[in-house]
Amino acid sequence: MKNILLLARSATTGGALKEMERLRDDAAAHPGVSRAVFAFAEEGTPSLRAALDGLIAAGATNVLIMPMLVPLEPSFINGLRKALQRWQAAAAGPWPEIAIAAPPAARPEMKDVLAAMIGAEASPVDRVETAPAAEGSVVPPQQRRVLVCQGAPCIRAGADFIWGHLRNEQKRLNLRTTGAGTMSAKTSCLGPCSLAPVVQVWPEGTLYGGVDETGLDRIIIGHLIGDQIIDDLAYLPLPGKQRLRD
Ligand code: FES
Repeated sequence: MKNILLLARSATTGGALKEMERLRDDAAAHPGVSRAVFAFAEEGTPSLRAALDGLIAAGATNVLIMPMLVPLEPSFINGLRKALQRWQAAAAGPWPEIAIAAPPAARPEMKDVLAAMIGAEASPVDRVETAPAAEGSVVPPQQRRVLVCQGAPCIRAGADFIWGHLRNEQKRLNLRTTGAGTMSAKTSCLGPCSLAPVVQVWPEGTLYGGVDETGLDRIIIGHLIGDQIIDDLAYLPLPGKQRLRD
């Protein structure tokens, strides 16, 4: 019997969550499936790590991860493998056999799904004569911004999961209004690719390399809330090339 983990990118609304619940229930009803759960690689709960921990606590000896992403960058799968290997190396107890299913767009059945979508009734978008007036915006008072690199080397090193962890912790700890107030953003290559995954904290411009969930927790508590740069994770702009420290 298989344990299924449906992996989506993110969900920030109740509607998106409900869609995943329905897919989970459909998967759970499939013969040969003992458990089905879902998780989010980026923003949304449960995170992939939390969902895996739940399956492990329930005694799962195998997990089939099914990425529900279209299109799927190959670097996402590389990052997923790296994150799983990192978590496995840090796990205290037994670890299930984990496999990753071919993503939806790679499945021949996708043709049938496309045909069904083409043939199904669609909801029209009403034409309006004048575009609705834009609402005003409040200019946010936040003074810190965390940039999470989304360049290919960082994605291959698991940056998607670092972004997801940051967003979930930002919400859980209410970082927008805690301390100096923190906002976050994804960014293209920040420069030191061999230090991937790379995160930069402004206004100091501190570059952190080799960031995992534990390191990010330290940056959140120490730097974002405590205003102290985490020296052993930070890399200064020195002349010459730098490698990740052990
Ligand atoms: S890709 Fe992240 S620093 Fe270059």
